[in-house]
Amino acid sequence: MSDVQKILVLDFGGQYKELIARKVRACKVMSVIMSGDTPIERIKKENPIGIILTGGPHSVYKEGSLHADKDLFNLGIPVLGICYGMQFMAYTLGGEVSPCAVSEYGKIKTHVCTKSPLFKGIEDVTPTLMNHTDYVKTVPAGFRVTAHTKDCPVAAMEDKDRQFYAVQFHPEADLSERGHDVIRNFLYEVCGAVGDYTIDEFIEKEIQRIREQVGDKHVVLGLSGGVDSSVTAAILERAIPDQVTCIFVDHGMMRKNEGKEVEAAFSGKHLKFVHVNAEQRFLARLKGVTDPERKRMIIGEEFVRVFEEESAEYEGSFLAQGTIYPDVVESGHASGAVIKSHHNVGGLPKETKFVGLVEPLRTLFKDEVRELGMLLGLPEEYVNRQPFPGPGLGVRCIGELTKERLDTLRDADYIYREELKNAGLKYDQFFAVLTSMRSVGVKGDGRTYNYVLALRAIHTTDFMTCEYAHIPYEVLDKITSRIVNEVKGVGRVVYDITGKPPATIEWE
Ligand code: XMP
Repeated sequence: MSDVQKILVLDFGGQYKELIARKVRACKVMSVIMSGDTPIERIKKENPIGIILTGGPHSVYKEGSLHADKDLFNLGIPVLGICYGMQFMAYTLGGEVSPCAVSEYGKIKTHVCTKSPLFKGIEDVTPTLMNHTDYVKTVPAGFRVTAHTKDCPVAAMEDKDRQFYAVQFHPEADLSERGHDVIRNFLYEVCGAVGDYTIDEFIEKEIQRIREQVGDKHVVLGLSGGVDSSVTAAILERAIPDQVTCIFVDHGMMRKNEGKEVEAAFSGKHLKFVHVNAEQRFLARLKGVTDPERKRMIIGEEFVRVFEEESAEYEGSFLAQGTIYPDVVESGHASGAVIKSHHNVGGLPKETKFVGLVEPLRTLFKDEVRELGMLLGLPEEYVNRQPFPGPGLGVRCIGELTKERLDTLRDADYIYREELKNAGLKYDQFFAVLTSMRSVGVKGDGRTYNYVLALRAIHTTDFMTCEYAHIPYEVLDKITSRIVNEVKGVGRVVYDITGKPPATIEWE
């Protein structure tokens, strides 16, 4: 996608960098995120049509705060500063930044100058999201004030001649009701965007790129059944039919029918699907292990081993991975400045039988991956699946992992999912957990001593925090009654109503 127009988002540590980049893409303009201190030569190489400076947690005048290369203001490229980005622009170009007399947090009534290209088509009073303790006290020479609030005299500023624009509020946040229009105006009224970035165009260009990269060689993909690896398989199949082998490693901790469902989704396609049943081998290595981090480590290690063995015959092939853009950004590979390393990104290991790495999704956000999956014809329920952790039921079966306990959990989890579906209920994540606690019960005339099973269902947008879902009592009744009657080994069902924080989504 190197020949489409591009907006560069320079990150100063604000929590909204991805949101800004996604909002730009929603306006059909490609965006890339780089660290705020990216050298000017690197910025020039990207050849952006505009630059957006994000918010950040520090004061511009504090020692150690992240500063961009000042030369970016000499490139003749339009710049939009947001929050810290605005303060950085003012400070660098000769204005004055100072602590606010009254800090503003939340939705604030903002008066905007509708003659400004940035506020074209927007009412002169509009709510925006403010979150700041510093403000621009004096604008630099050549700038004029284009918005204010009750407590912030400079809520936006611009220098039309040099194409520099800045807002103290967060146009990327939904609480800024016309924020989308502010971003769109910057792209189309200031930067001259033509809207040449769409997923349809992405497919065509990416298919071409894959063909050029791979030639007549073979590609091997570890397919987990998750959205990213499934969409990777689908685009590879479209690009290079009959040159792809997908290896699905069943570690014995999949949900009920999972292997069959993945196989069905890819059967009849022009790719080779290898279903490896490695249940016994994983369970043998996990025997007696109860510590969750040890479980994760063993499952991860064994997975790599099985994959290596199964792919041994494909020496000289490419390895495909479902790496997506947030993985790339977090690992710092987008700009060369490491923000945080990520296990998924980092190229091929030195000792490898593969000749290269194919990562068709590495420029896409998750919502774009789902859109791509739909366009490539994957079933809707498949593309919108809830996340399932790599170690699978291994971290939902508290205590030792045996086939018997995993089967109990699988059956209970299946009933839970089935009854939620029957009731037309869907949550961001929902699953059953088999605890290691047993509890006394009574069945007929006899005393029972069976496991306690917990149900979890949550609402979340980012999986960093969550709230529990209010499943109607009648539905919980039905689920519980079916589980205690139909599933061997469960004697009691409880519903987890803890949020994150303080709890996590998974139990271990
Ligand atoms: P927690 O439990 O940390 O989970 O609140 C946040 C999200 O991450 C998923 N998760 C994992 N995914 N390997 C994964 O691939 C893991 O070990 C793992 N642990 C948690 C979890 O399902 C939730 O969506």
